[in-house]
Parts: sequence; structure tokens; C-alpha cells
Amino acid sequence: MEEQFSALVARAREAAAAYYNGSDLLMTDAEYDALIEQIAAAKAEHPDWDDEGVLERVAAGAATGDVQHSSMMLSLAKVKTEADLLAFIRSIPAPQDINVEPKMDGLAISAKYVAGLLTQVVTRGDGSAGEDVTAQAQKIAGLPTRLSEPANTEVRGEVFMTDADFEIANRNRTAAGKPAFANPRNATAGTLRAQGRTYEAPMSFACYEALYDNAPDSYLARLAIASTLGIQTINDLFRMKPMPPLDAVREIERLRPTLGFPIDGAVLKVNSEMLRRQLGETSHSPRWAVAFKYAADTATTRLLDIELAIGRTGRLSLTAILEPVYVGGTTISRATLHHPQFVLDADLRIGDEVYVYRAGDVIPRVTTPVLSARPEGLPRWTPPETCPQCGEPLEKEGLIWRCLSPECSVAGRIRYFAGRDVMDIDGLDVVTAEALAESGMVNSIADLYNLTREQIANLPVGTTASGQPRLLGQKTTDRILSSLAEKTKTQPFARVITSLGIRNVGRSMGRRLAERFRNMNALRSATVEELASVEGIGPTKAERIKAGLTQMELVINRLIQAGVHTEIEEAAPVDSSLPLAGKKVCVTGAVPGMTRWEADHAIAQLGGTPTDSVTKTTNLLVIGDKPGSKVEKAEKYGVPTMTADEFLALLH
Ligand code: IVH
Repeated sequence: MEEQFSALVARAREAAAAYYNGSDLLMTDAEYDALIEQIAAAKAEHPDWDDEGVLERVAAGAATGDVQHSSMMLSLAKVKTEADLLAFIRSIPAPQDINVEPKMDGLAISAKYVAGLLTQVVTRGDGSAGEDVTAQAQKIAGLPTRLSEPANTEVRGEVFMTDADFEIANRNRTAAGKPAFANPRNATAGTLRAQGRTYEAPMSFACYEALYDNAPDSYLARLAIASTLGIQTINDLFRMKPMPPLDAVREIERLRPTLGFPIDGAVLKVNSEMLRRQLGETSHSPRWAVAFKYAADTATTRLLDIELAIGRTGRLSLTAILEPVYVGGTTISRATLHHPQFVLDADLRIGDEVYVYRAGDVIPRVTTPVLSARPEGLPRWTPPETCPQCGEPLEKEGLIWRCLSPECSVAGRIRYFAGRDVMDIDGLDVVTAEALAESGMVNSIADLYNLTREQIANLPVGTTASGQPRLLGQKTTDRILSSLAEKTKTQPFARVITSLGIRNVGRSMGRRLAERFRNMNALRSATVEELASVEGIGPTKAERIKAGLTQMELVINRLIQAGVHTEIEEAAPVDSSLPLAGKKVCVTGAVPGMTRWEADHAIAQLGGTPTDSVTKTTNLLVIGDKPGSKVEKAEKYGVPTMTADEFLALLH
């Protein structure tokens, strides 16, 4: 029993040392608190067992540094219930003098200024002595290296990372090949103590004590002086309207998700220095202050799976499926994983124990694996090559991976509809399609016809250098609107069919369906059997096309209303003097300067009928760049061939 106790004590000491040194977290706050409670309970039953001072010193941290503090950097007594909080408030003779502020979740430091110049920055360490981090503390927002006046002062406070800084720090750190930090506190501690750091990791400072000669009695007045000297104080960072202390504690908790910086509680402290002296302190915490702890924002749990999905913008999104875990005040079982590169950089593996951090923005995120807990032989996660929904290859552009298939996303549908080979809408590119899908204004291609000039022109399509949303603008809006009003309504019926983005109905199938059914009503009332009678459509494809048409029923109605072509244009009688009159012509490879549609259109202009494959009845094969197996087929059947250049010459 006593041996087990010693093991618990050793674990607690190790964890406390890691916490205060800012090395990798060994356990979460909740686990640590539970461990301490266990030790305290055992100690209550066996007062003779040696807790090696953890119960006393735990709050004070582990000794790490060698720079003596001018006075002890005390820690705060913690309370977890409102009853205990009220007991504290009642113990103060002048409760109206209690100040309530957020408890920052970073690393406590003391900074000395001599004649207005920052001379030394020291971590809290064990409270009596800490580590010199002056060199690493040169670029902390709110902790200037030179004050606005040549003042002498020692300030104490918290170095921390805002939620945005934390994102940047982890991105840069993993890009530099180092494991991600579990949470901003850990990141701050690690960054502040790291020497020769190679990655950028912005940090900030919030002062919660300032010592001067002839300092005023009021704490808030002392902070105000620090503020005029150019130091950011906790009061600059967060100021609350006056209210009773208990309400203030609740209010800070309510605002916690929106603050943008990490806090783990609220601190109640007496404002008057005289009253503080009167109340005094115990060996490790003052009687004039107390910390109320909120729910922990970091927890560990098992990563059960990584779910892949295509959102309405067509972008691949990754979600961690987690064993349910209580963090930040709620139980979560899903968390964002950003993008594939994030998972690769953090080396998260399915089956890992992982840290989950629920930041101010309320979106829980997985940050990093608990490497010491990784089961042996856990394979690395492999990113997908193809769309999880349609199986088509994903398009990768830096961190953004997309599926371009029309059936997988709203943006995909818009893009496909607007494509050069389909409706050919000028100015409607990938980014615009995504913005339209994102805006919620376009849910189907038919919605494009309802857009107003203002809606299009004010579409945010990125950010400017100064961080403002960049709008699409008038010129592009004009191009899009005129394409919609004119071009899309003169595109041949075959393209209208293709524009629906139905699986298996690409360019050539659109043409075949147009030729076979002649108009939209015939097409959409065609039975599966009738569809299957079209060349290249088997029973499975016919089913799919039928389902696709049914699904698009309402969209088709609205396209008809908008005025697109719904029947095949009667072909003018073929002029027998045209060079390809009456010939079935097939193309293999690319005709320089032409899309497939344009090449087919050119064949028709020359009097021929474009076909997709070489058969015995084909009259001519045009051989473009990178031709395929059709060349061999043509040879086999004795079909005459022509180069792309010869073909182009016919047009002039
Ligand atoms: S006052 C004697 N105010 O909490 C009291 N501490 O457990 C001196 N902390 O080491 C501290 N925000 O790291 C104070 N607004 C705040 C605080 C704060 C965070 C941390 C600090 C300290 C620990 C005490």
C-alpha cells in the first residue's frame, strides 16, 4: 500500500515538473487533480506516509530555475464550488473591494525594468526562484523592451498565446518537423523555454501585479500605471462592468468561448494593499485571493476514426471520431482535423490516445497524439487519393483538397454547369463557385438565374492583403450576368442535358440523349428500357440516369422557365459541297486550340457527324496530340485518317 502511495507521489512530482517546465504534458489538469486528491485521501488516513511535499509544494510547482525572485511568487488557492466561493467572499471584511478578473492560462513570469528598459524576465519556477528567459521574451506583445518613461518597476503576469497565435505556433512547429503542442498553455511554456527556436510562435503578456517605489494602495491603480508605461494589463485585455463577484465569475465563464485567449478560471482578489497585508497569506497562497476553476479545456481520449466528407464547397473535410470525452464543459465525440496535411504533420494515427482542446471558438480540435501511450505497431494514417463519395481522383491544391464531381457538392454542380465545355459562363471560376455555394444563395444550378447583380458583386472571394474580404466586383459580375442571360440560353440541347451534372452523362452522352429523345419532355419521361436502348447505356447506367433525371426534376423545370434550350435544334440540310459532308468522323487525342466540344462542332460545320468511337462504319479518324488506341482500330478496319493540322486546314 505504501509502495503504491510512493508511486503516486512520484507520478505527481513528475507531472508537476513537466507542467511548470513546459515540456510535454504528462497528464491533463483533471487527471492531475484526481491524482492529488487520491494522494491527499491516503495521506489523511496515513499521516505518517511521506508525500515528499507534493501536497504542499504541488501548487508551488517544481524547482527549475536559479534566479531568486524579489519576493515569493505565490500561487492561488483553488475553489471548485460556488459555496466555497461564497465562503471566501464572506471571509473578506470589505467584499465591495473584491476585484474579479480572468485567470489566464499561460505561464507566470516576473519582468524587471530598469530606467524603462526590460532587463530580466524570469519564469515563476517553484515560486522562490525561476529560470531566466530574457532572451526568449524579446518579442512578446504587451511586454515592451522599452517603456514610455524611464521607470523602474517589476511586473508580474502571464505570458500566453491567443487562440490565433496557438494555431500559428502549431502550424509552424509541425511544419518544422516537431510534434504539435497540446494546448496554448503548453505551447507558451514550451516556446518561452525553448532556446534556439526555429519556428515563429507569437505570444502576449497580461500583467496582474506591478511593484514600484511609492506604489498606490489600490491594485487597479498600480495596473493603470503599468498600462500608461506601455505594458498590457489584465484590465486592458478584459474589462468588465461592475457587478457582484459571484455574477462576475459567471459572466466571465459565459464569455469564455468568445474571448479569443485561453483562461482556466476567474481570480477574485482584494484590491487594497492594506487589506491584503491585514489578511496575510499561508505558506503557498494568499488569504486575500482565490481562483475559481472552470471546466478543463484539454482532455485526452481515443481517436477511433478519421471521417472524410465533401462539404457543399467541394472541399474535403476531416473529422476525428472520438471516444466521448468531457472537455470545456461538454461531452464531445467529434472534433475538427482541418485538412490532410494537418493529420500528417501531427502524425495522428487511428487508435492513438490524443489531446482534445476546446478553444474559445468552441470548435473542439484534436491537437497532438500522446506519444507515450501509442500502441505498438499502429500504422501511419494514409491520406485519400480519391473522393470518399464518388471515387473520382481528388484535386489537390496546397492544403485544400477538392472533389470536382458535380454530384458531390453544390460548388461542384455550379462549376460543372459553368464549365467551358458545358454552359460556358465567363468569369465563374472555382473560387466563385465555392463562394456561391458557401453563401447559401445557390443550392442548385437553377438558383443561378435568381441571383441579383448586388448579390454577385458583393460575393466575398478571398481576402485582401489587409485582411478585408475581397469582393467579386462589377466587371466579373457583368460577365457572369450576361453569360447567364444570353449564352446559357443559346447552348444546344445536348449541352443543357450535360449541364445537369448527372453521373455518366458527360459531353458525348448528352449528345446521344439529345439525338435519341429530341426534347426534354421525351427525355424525362423515358423509361429505363428506353434509356438502355441508347448506344453506350447498359441497364445499370440507364437506372442511374433515370434516377439522376428524377432527382433533377424541379431543377429542370426551373431551367426551362429560365429559357434554356429544351429541344434539339433542327439541323440544317447538309450542304453536300462541304468537305466532310455525310461522313462519320471520329477524333483521337487533342486538336490544338480546341476543346472536344469545339472539335465536334467543327466536324458538324464541315458537314460531318461527330462520333465517339471507331467502328467499321466510321469514315474518317482525325489524329490529334497524344492519340489513343483508336489509331490501331482505324488501321484494323481500314478507316482513313487525317492529322489535326489537315483537319484545321479544312476550316480555313
Ligand atoms: S494573481 C499571489 N491573477 O495563477 C497571487 N494569477 O495559481 C498571484 N494566474 O502562477 C497571482 N491569471 O500563473 C493572478 N489574473 C490572475 C491570474 C493568475 C493567471 C496564474 C498565475 C499564477 C497562478 C496561481
